[in-house]
Amino acid sequence: MAREQWKSQFGFLLAAVGSAIGLGNIWRFSYLAYEHGGGAFLIPYLAALLTAGIPLLILEYGIGHERVASAPLAYAKISKRWEWLGWWAVLFVMFGIVLYYSVVIAWCLDYFVLAFSLGWGDDPNAFFFEQFLQVSKSPAEVGEIRTPILAALAVVWLINWAIVYRGVQRGIELANKVLMPTLLLLILALVAWSLTLEGAGRGIAAYLTPDFSRLSDPKVWIDAYSQIFFTLSLGFGIMIAYASYLPRKADITRNALLTAFINSGFSLFAGFAVFAVLGFMANSQGVAISEVASESIGLAFVAYPREVSLMPGGNLFGALFFLCLVVAGLSSAISIIEAFVAAMVDKFGVDRQKLVTFICVLGFLGSIVFTTRAGLLWLDIVDHFVTHYGLVSVGILECFVVGWLFNLPKLRRHINRVSSVQLGGWWDFLVKIFVPLVLAVILAGDLVNELQKPYGGYSWTSLILIGRDWLLLTLAGAFILACRPWRTGSREEGGRSD
Ligand code: PHE
Repeated sequence: MAREQWKSQFGFLLAAVGSAIGLGNIWRFSYLAYEHGGGAFLIPYLAALLTAGIPLLILEYGIGHERVASAPLAYAKISKRWEWLGWWAVLFVMFGIVLYYSVVIAWCLDYFVLAFSLGWGDDPNAFFFEQFLQVSKSPAEVGEIRTPILAALAVVWLINWAIVYRGVQRGIELANKVLMPTLLLLILALVAWSLTLEGAGRGIAAYLTPDFSRLSDPKVWIDAYSQIFFTLSLGFGIMIAYASYLPRKADITRNALLTAFINSGFSLFAGFAVFAVLGFMANSQGVAISEVASESIGLAFVAYPREVSLMPGGNLFGALFFLCLVVAGLSSAISIIEAFVAAMVDKFGVDRQKLVTFICVLGFLGSIVFTTRAGLLWLDIVDHFVTHYGLVSVGILECFVVGWLFNLPKLRRHINRVSSVQLGGWWDFLVKIFVPLVLAVILAGDLVNELQKPYGGYSWTSLILIGRDWLLLTLAGAFILACRPWRTGSREEGGRSD
């Protein structure tokens, strides 16, 4: 069967942007900027974008396009011994990230509905933790399933399924053609509205005033690099799969630059809405901006609702905000499922639609653990381990496999042949040496921190059993899948430049 293809390069770009723009852009980015010295954070952020984000995005697009393959197949075509790396990426993202990512989208869906009647009452903090999530004391006390979350989760998985089931062109491409313009309109409305709030100027000033003294703190740089990784959906095998559906003639570098700049532009822009609202809250509560924000999860589900209750027309504003999150989240969730489905179809030649149905049912069932009373705690741990260790390790190894085992100049020639913006030897240097080195420093820094005190105050037992073992189990799964024989002929074919 012929490999599916995007209808147009624009459709591909929208889908890639859809994957990149997610829950991370709207809240995570602004929160980091706030933590790390407002405008000054933009310096490490842009440095990370230029020195690691864009070169790696080009690499992932390039390898997907040149090898015409999803991650495991692409690596297998480079060296059979490294096929597991591709499987590991798509496994921990499919059986890790998307399971809790869907649950956070489900929370947003519930909050979208609650917003209309300001259903969180006078104390959004107590509502979120004690009534909505009913968080238990420790990850070991799983407790019962929260039905409102479960109900919303079922809707989220149904939408995921409905989109991915219809395939690349009629499903993912079409959905993004609807979701992305919707998101753009929503965020425009949200920013415009926030800027009219009293005190907005104060918030914006805090956003844009740089605090250069923060630049000497290595943690700021580490956070900037890992944010770029996460926000561009790098290291998950997603961009490789998406690029494999491009036609032979496709401008790789231009698409990579566009994806990267649209994604970061969106983050910067959404930051205005978040900071204007912080300014409004500081104003109405008579406190300093630095005292308004708590930790990241709390901010979206606690501070926003609190502020929404105070402002005129707040319920609509709240609904708008949560709808934005739902739309941004869905277009990322489907990209994760596609990365895994593409890999399975490439290797085992299974029926795509049956597989999608099976995977979505499995995904829904797997998500349920995050809808229990210990859900938030499990989410926190799994997220920490997967994004800090899984992602960064895959990034380093990816640079190694493609940079050192593959003929990198050949890949560069391939990319240059189809692209408008040409790559020079500097790209080889970044991929072979600079990026893996930076990532290794991040990994080492994280490990040192980790061993000093248990993450988030959890017990070592829960961290090991939930966090570390989640990674080890997916790794074991990756080795098993890599050892299975190929059922399709795709393994033997080379790439587009052979
Ligand atoms: N890039 C998305 C964001 O910023 C997150 C994401 C993670 C998307 C994993 C796909 C896979 O929220």
